[in-house]
Amino acid sequence: MIRPKTKILVDGGDPQETRRAKVLLGFVDGQTTNPSLVAKNPHIKELVASGHKLSGREEMEEYKKIVQTISPLVGDAGVSIEVFSDEKTTAGEMLDQGREMFSWIPNGHIKYPCTSEGLRAAQMSVKRGIRVNMTLCFSQQQAAAVYAATKGTKEPSYVSPFVGRLDDIGQNGMDVVRNIQRMYAKGDGHVLVLAASIRSLEHLLYSFLLKTDLVTVPAKILELWANKNFPMPNKQFQYEASGTPIPYEELDLEQTWETFDVKHELTRKGVEKFAADYRATLARPA
Ligand code: E4P
Repeated sequence: MIRPKTKILVDGGDPQETRRAKVLLGFVDGQTTNPSLVAKNPHIKELVASGHKLSGREEMEEYKKIVQTISPLVGDAGVSIEVFSDEKTTAGEMLDQGREMFSWIPNGHIKYPCTSEGLRAAQMSVKRGIRVNMTLCFSQQQAAAVYAATKGTKEPSYVSPFVGRLDDIGQNGMDVVRNIQRMYAKGDGHVLVLAASIRSLEHLLYSFLLKTDLVTVPAKILELWANKNFPMPNKQFQYEASGTPIPYEELDLEQTWETFDVKHELTRKGVEKFAADYRATLARPA
């Protein structure tokens, strides 16, 4: 296999999947998790199915065990751990969770949503040396805000544009990845682009072609890639976009993050769904 320039992360909540992916590829650069993926972890599903719903603390402990098992399996892209948040969660509350989660493993990245509160939490986090991965990114404006909010970080921050969920609403999700990369090319390189919500081999190959810094991939797509003997995009590769193109915007990365329009309906819906999936595992929903 020709190892791509793009770092490959496993998108999941089950260490067994990470192990399988590592056997298939011979390496795994990192891992991303989120509340929906953690709720699907076989042990958590078993507990919930047997009627043992968890307390908030127990859920945190289970999440900690999962990331501590995955942490030594992956390379230098680390393990992304997502804070619990809903529309009422403040930046301070996110930061408190982020601090605790960051102490779980030596190679953590804390995921905050691309909302005003999430950006505020990220800004405070990087000042404290906490690495961040800004999730639920659907627009170039949100990515510009991530750049501005994390300026001065000692170690690279990640931004995760969600390709598949934009495709789902009839837009060309890969355009956002391309547009963010083009915009960041004018910057200082402190934010790395992590293509997320990858649903097909085409998404994966196009990420390789674009040389995105990182891509997070569900195990089943990695299996598909392996079964086809790890194809790489050649000069003839054409990405067949199904959705409406998303135009590039000229944005000034030197502005403060508050000047960018960070609202996006898919971010709102994403936060809502992550909160619902997290709460479904709890005995007494938070
Ligand atoms: C990764 O960080 C994301 O949580 C993940 O890629 C979301 O993918 P989905 O849109 O398929 O749920």
